[in-house]
Amino acid sequence: MAVGVFDSGLGGLTVLDALARRLPDVPFVYFGDNAHAPYGVRTHEDIFNLTCAATQRLWDEGCDLVILACNTASAAALKRMQETWVPPHKRVLGVFVPLIEALTERQWGDNSPPREVAVKHVALFATPATVASRAFQRELSFRAIGVDVEAQPCGGVVDAIEQGDEILAEALVRSHVEALKRRMPAPEAAILGCTHYPLMQKVFQDALGSNVKVFSQANLVAESLADYLSRRPEMLGSGQMSKFLTTGDPASVSSKATQFMRKSVRFEAAYA
Ligand code: DGL
Repeated sequence: MAVGVFDSGLGGLTVLDALARRLPDVPFVYFGDNAHAPYGVRTHEDIFNLTCAATQRLWDEGCDLVILACNTASAAALKRMQETWVPPHKRVLGVFVPLIEALTERQWGDNSPPREVAVKHVALFATPATVASRAFQRELSFRAIGVDVEAQPCGGVVDAIEQGDEILAEALVRSHVEALKRRMPAPEAAILGCTHYPLMQKVFQDALGSNVKVFSQANLVAESLADYLSRRPEMLGSGQMSKFLTTGDPASVSSKATQFMRKSVRFEAAYA
């Protein structure tokens, strides 16, 4: 009964951590495509092909349900995967919708027409590919009206995290927040629209100021998965063991994961 969790690299570990705390009896198989990160500067075609290959590998581990804990893959590949590639007895879910439901204070499955919501000025921080896809704005427009979203493509941040360079990552986050504030001086809320960014959440919060509510995905996705599995328990696949798979060098990926998660994480090679 395992669930697969995919990210281009280390970022999905922030989601996995919350999933494992919320669902302690469920084994999770994590797949980090570290050899191909960052995805945020790749074409949609490339992201689609890489995400399908990773998902297939998770299915081979007995995970019938795979969470794309990667906004870039969710934005650039998920719809096409669901429409053209995922077989009927498997599921692939993304990470946008729980976040947008929280921002718009909606319950799961509330399909009523879009309405005015409390927040009016929202800063979105995401990878260049996610920003270019406008997927957040599209999902938001189904649920809310009158929300002004200013998006900042945060080039370089994922790369710095994947390289284990926290100092560079912090400097880049501060400069991206400054760039956004020049265009939207007083956001009420900020969305960390990349699962790598919660690793830098304190820096985002500090640069934005304490009056800005920062939304990140981990706990929201965990609640949403718990709810999904209570309704669809048959989607727990046949896999039995939690493990961490990477397309990168397992020793180096394990050491960076341990650095960022501040606890021991041991990866193994995804392909023998
Ligand atoms: N964690 C991925 C996301 O949520 C990072 C994508 C990348 O590799 O650029 O978008």
